[in-house]
Amino acid sequence: MLKIGMIGAGFVAGFHERALRSVRIADFAGVCAPKGAEALAQVARENQLGDTQVYATVADLAQAVDVVCIFAPNFARVEIMRQIAQAVEGGAKLKGIIVEKPLARTVQEADTLVRIAKAMNIPTAYFENQIHMPSIIQARHQLAQVEKAMGPAHLARSAEEHGGPHEPWFWDPTTQGGGVCCDMGCHSIACGMFMLTPLGKPLDYLQPVSINASMALLKWGKEPWLGQLKARGVDYSKTPAEDYSTVTLELKDPQTGHRSVVQAVNSWIYDAPGLRLLMETFGPGYSYTVNSLQSPSGIFISDAAATAVVDSELALEKSQASRGSLILQPNEADLYGYVAEWIDALTAFEQGKDAKLNLEYGKTITMLILAAYMSHEKRQAIDLTDARVLRELEDYVPLIQKGEGNKVL
Ligand SMILES: NC(=O)c1ccc[n+]([C@@H]2O[C@H](COP(=O)([O-])OP(=O)(O)OC[C@H]3O[C@@H](n4cnc5c(N)ncnc54)[C@H](O)[C@@H]3O)[C@@H](O)[C@H]2O)c1
Repeated sequence: MLKIGMIGAGFVAGFHERALRSVRIADFAGVCAPKGAEALAQVARENQLGDTQVYATVADLAQAVDVVCIFAPNFARVEIMRQIAQAVEGGAKLKGIIVEKPLARTVQEADTLVRIAKAMNIPTAYFENQIHMPSIIQARHQLAQVEKAMGPAHLARSAEEHGGPHEPWFWDPTTQGGGVCCDMGCHSIACGMFMLTPLGKPLDYLQPVSINASMALLKWGKEPWLGQLKARGVDYSKTPAEDYSTVTLELKDPQTGHRSVVQAVNSWIYDAPGLRLLMETFGPGYSYTVNSLQSPSGIFISDAAATAVVDSELALEKSQASRGSLILQPNEADLYGYVAEWIDALTAFEQGKDAKLNLEYGKTITMLILAAYMSHEKRQAIDLTDARVLRELEDYVPLIQKGEGNKVL
């Protein structure tokens, strides 16, 4: 039974608390965060996930647990990893380090995280839940013999869309790293690549050939939405970020030379029931589809009864409505792959190994996201087989991330 310590106690930590209710090999022992730690610890104790305690510092937390999880905002990642390294130097005996998506805002930051973790010689997990979604895993399992007979898939469409994030730091491109492409493109690109990766091959098997991206600010730069963001301390007339992005990634099978394509679409302008994950994979003679909004359950709340609704997000993440006909997903933590990613990581850590997705893998995804921003900025496809381009990406900071999005949006 591994003792888990969460750094960060906001939205995603709450989701992981829900996921841990379905994981038997974890004891949620501690949490450390400037905001929300006490409330999260209390919920975890009520759910009997452990005698969850609040720790004042990362060092104190790291001394008390086996696994630390960085569930804090993107801008705090590198500093937190340094604090973990100091705790380990000070005697903390960690068996694993988990980092939520996106690993980092730049390739340089991702590289720093990877190097610090490597120097500690502690197994890592990059948490990309969508690759663990049971619907995708089951579809691939059922199609295994078909794929073997016909060949691997050649086109994957992967989309995550909702109406916009909950906290101002996500909207601010200088703190988050960009707009929706940095925030959610990392999911859709990783998941798309996974859906195309031949069964039995490692997740970094397919070679990225080129990336072509287009980004736009379609909704949140206009009134009344602009004013709503300003009231939350974010000014998209001065420092805009993209609320819509499309990325086309071309991949090559290094053994057969066959090409495949990921189309990743991400949106913060999805004014629809809540959060939609839409995946479609096409192979020679077969295909499968996942739509997270297709649920056997639903609820209806009339106008007359609507005042009784306490929290519409109880029915579905990012739900925008509290009355009418609402989609209900009874176990989102399982649906989105959080439960499976925990089981994968903790099982690996118990054996002294990296999870299926480690921080190096996270760095590859960061590089692809940065290449997407570069493609939008240069208005051209980026050749990912060119060593000069890869070197340029190493210290590239997109204009949108610098707060100069007005030049390109
Ligand atoms: N896998 C997913 O689908 C998914 C969903 C949501 C968020 N995330 C990721 O999780 C991360 C956190 O997002 P969130 O929605 O929970 O954010 P949030 O703003 O809701 O919560 C952030 C938490 O981190 C704490 N924090 C802030 N600065 C800190 C610091 N320097 N040290 C320690 N803790 C600090 C805050 O007090 C808060 O408890 C982001 O990187 C986000 O991209 C992933």
